[in-house]
Amino acid sequence: MCGIVGGVASQDVISILLDGLKRLEYRGYDSSGLVVLAENNSLNRARAVGKVVNLEEKLKTKKNKIKGNIGIAHTRWATHGEPSNRNAHPHICNHSVSVVHNGIIENYLDLKTSQKEQGYKFTSDTDTEVIAHAIHLSMQSSETLLEAVQKATATFDGAYGLGVVSPKYPDTLIATRKGSPLVIGVGKNGNYIASDQMALLPVTKEFIFLEEGDIAELTLTKVTIYDEGGNQVERPVKTSKLNKGQVSLGDYQHFMQKEIFEQPQAIRDTLESRITKENVLISAFGPKAQRIFKKIKQVQIIACGTSYNAGLVAKYWFEDIARIRCNIEVASEYRYRHPILLDGTLFVTISQSGETADTLEALKTAKKINSKINTLCICNSAESSITRGSELTFLTHAGPEIGVASTKAFTTQLVALALLVTSMGVTQKTINKKQEKAIVEGLKRLPGLVNKALKQEDQIIELAKRFKDKTSALFVGRGTMHAIAMEGALKLKEISYIHAEAYPAGELKHGPIALIDESIPVVAIAPNDELLNKLKSNLQEIKSRGSQMIVFEDEDSHVKSMKAMDVIPVTSNLGRITAPIIFTIPLQLLSYHVALVKGTDVDKPRNLAKSVTVE
Ligand code: F6R
Repeated sequence: MCGIVGGVASQDVISILLDGLKRLEYRGYDSSGLVVLAENNSLNRARAVGKVVNLEEKLKTKKNKIKGNIGIAHTRWATHGEPSNRNAHPHICNHSVSVVHNGIIENYLDLKTSQKEQGYKFTSDTDTEVIAHAIHLSMQSSETLLEAVQKATATFDGAYGLGVVSPKYPDTLIATRKGSPLVIGVGKNGNYIASDQMALLPVTKEFIFLEEGDIAELTLTKVTIYDEGGNQVERPVKTSKLNKGQVSLGDYQHFMQKEIFEQPQAIRDTLESRITKENVLISAFGPKAQRIFKKIKQVQIIACGTSYNAGLVAKYWFEDIARIRCNIEVASEYRYRHPILLDGTLFVTISQSGETADTLEALKTAKKINSKINTLCICNSAESSITRGSELTFLTHAGPEIGVASTKAFTTQLVALALLVTSMGVTQKTINKKQEKAIVEGLKRLPGLVNKALKQEDQIIELAKRFKDKTSALFVGRGTMHAIAMEGALKLKEISYIHAEAYPAGELKHGPIALIDESIPVVAIAPNDELLNKLKSNLQEIKSRGSQMIVFEDEDSHVKSMKAMDVIPVTSNLGRITAPIIFTIPLQLLSYHVALVKGTDVDKPRNLAKSVTVE
């Protein structure tokens, strides 16, 4: 996590750096800072605890009025050392070199010990400070800043995206990455770096995506890149399809709210050119997809957080609808537990950002365990580490998701997974033409159905008020709705800080029902499916323990309303694929409005970051 911006320009870079940092706040926001090279060739630094606006305010004060044509900046998500001024980046060594860092240097304690022995003084608790000292040390035996950074990074274990400047080389900015994202923006009046292209959209649309281990030297007019082996290389310059407007709030109060309401369009965009009137286009997964899908015997899904919840829905779909064996696991466990991967496995990663460290490492681990497996990713970021590491890619076209709580990424992941399940079922002849047609028709109805579900907002605003003084909540559902309940609980806890748990409704009697009393609201999802009657019995069990309940139901489910139980019909006539997508909507709205009632920072909840590029 953490966001980096930097630039060498023909103008003062302060406003470019600040604007870039604001666009990267989704990556972390517990402190921020920047360094520019002043005209007298000194490193001028400003740092502030909290969000980027605090840094901006600080820079307006007389004492901190600084400017320069070359600089680096950082917004932090703390890993080593509490959020404080002294731990905020950039870090400086001996007035000679300054560094911003995204990632973790795992051997920093060993490096720190040896650097201390060599007389280096530490002013922070971060792992990053060893980078500044290591580069300073190698500058003594190097002819260029690039050479010094190359020598220093050779001593690091772990992950880094780095921006480095030094008054000794006043025209040069060095950028390098390994395990953390970093892009170069090629502009007319300068060259820039950032953790994400979104940070640089106001200054350029031309980007170079650095490969693992690449190091780049940026001057005002030139970008020179070397690969990990030190060979000069050419990397393609790509024109971004994103525009500035996509990353602004418009008429909405929060990005989360905007993104919830963008879902009909995001789903339309994700389906576009991927289906015909009656069929799913298997080629949407790449030219090799048909050949690969034919020989697959089982699917292994790996993801984290919300993306994991999407995968959990797909596990039901794979086995229930396409009759293909499917396992799913969170990436942070999978990567460390020596799993068995059989030949004939399709290894599917799901990630909005495509940069989640655990998911990326699980993918690398899987390829090492069995080089014969095929890999496929479902991702919302075209030029990400996970897409580059996968054989087949399906891009969700959700557009940039800025709110930390994932919403439109989730529903478009479900759409992508529905297309995958159908494509594989069709290829393996476990799904026939009639079933395929029905699935396609259901998918086409989705934007309209989502719009209908969004119309429940006023009712949900009223329900949200009841959570004002609550500290716990329970979400229940059966089948795919258990996964949707998990997503509802995750949304509620991450943005309103209410402890929320999700259970398969039939599991409550094995323990958790002991928790239930009038202080714990229970949210249930009741689609009109083959488990409805069983769910109704579970709801009775909960009700008789005095809980306040909210039931989101299919109009045809006819759940009988009782005292202290609100039954909200969300929709009607849903299929096995459309139902989980549609029942997600009221849960997103509920958590959003509970967060408003609680007064939390909806788009930037405490302790979180959007893209988790550290372990
Ligand atoms: C929750 C949320 C996270 C992410 C998780 C994986 O709202 O956003 O749980 O889903 O960190 O991120 P990606 O999908 O980028 O791999």
